[in-house]
Amino acid sequence: MPTSAAVIVYKDANELARQAAGYILSSIEQTLVGHERFSLVLSGGSTPKAIYTLLGQPPLVDRVPWSRVHFFWGDERCVPPDHADSNYCMAYETLLSYLVLPLQNIHRIQGEIPPEESAASYEQTITEFFGEHIRPPRFDLVLLGMGNDGHTASLFPDSPALDETQRWVVAVDHTQLPAPLVARVTMTLPLLNAARRIALIVSGAAKAGQVRRALSEDGDATVLPVQRVYPEDGEMVWLLDDAAANMIHP
Ligand code: 6PG
Repeated sequence: MPTSAAVIVYKDANELARQAAGYILSSIEQTLVGHERFSLVLSGGSTPKAIYTLLGQPPLVDRVPWSRVHFFWGDERCVPPDHADSNYCMAYETLLSYLVLPLQNIHRIQGEIPPEESAASYEQTITEFFGEHIRPPRFDLVLLGMGNDGHTASLFPDSPALDETQRWVVAVDHTQLPAPLVARVTMTLPLLNAARRIALIVSGAAKAGQVRRALSEDGDATVLPVQRVYPEDGEMVWLLDDAAANMIHP
């Protein structure tokens, strides 16, 4: 865990959502002062729903020029884009459908094609967006969640994807999940850790034990996937609600 990782705890899930939305908007505003566009990697699952909903509605929706924001995904389930389990579908329904922005600003992972093909295609999408010379590409902000087993994106415990050093996007299978959640496409640690900013957003008492493990320095032998996330040259923040933080309070 990098010493630079800030840990901020909010009183409940609603306040966490409000503050996380504010952090995202502030990051966009700061970057757009000196840059033409902002590259944002969205996380999936259920925690971000409240955040994306706030961003898609007044007053927050009017705070930034969304046409200068490019949306990517840290991972995707291998399902069609209109499937209830799709991370793209969740973001579209809560946020993207409310924004005025060119379609080319939405860079989704194609869950509807074979996983390996989707991973290769997404890596090409990222290369084309940043340019061949930018290696690894540096996203302006990566949003991540954490599962009850300490996974993040679709980097699950004991997955070979955790040891990937060359590829930025890979296909993974997680057989402990019910179909169709088994097959996933995910960004890898070299790409995630190249980001300028990483925000790990975790809510709920069910995550408290893993949050304590992830943030403790007690040298626990088993390193959780989320502990492998740290920016090589950037800012990292953990945004928690009180329930998720209830085992790390001093
Ligand atoms: C996914 C996410 C995953 C998620 C965690 C937490 O595709 O499911 O990318 O990494 O962030 O599993 O999910 P919840 O917010 O639903 O607890």
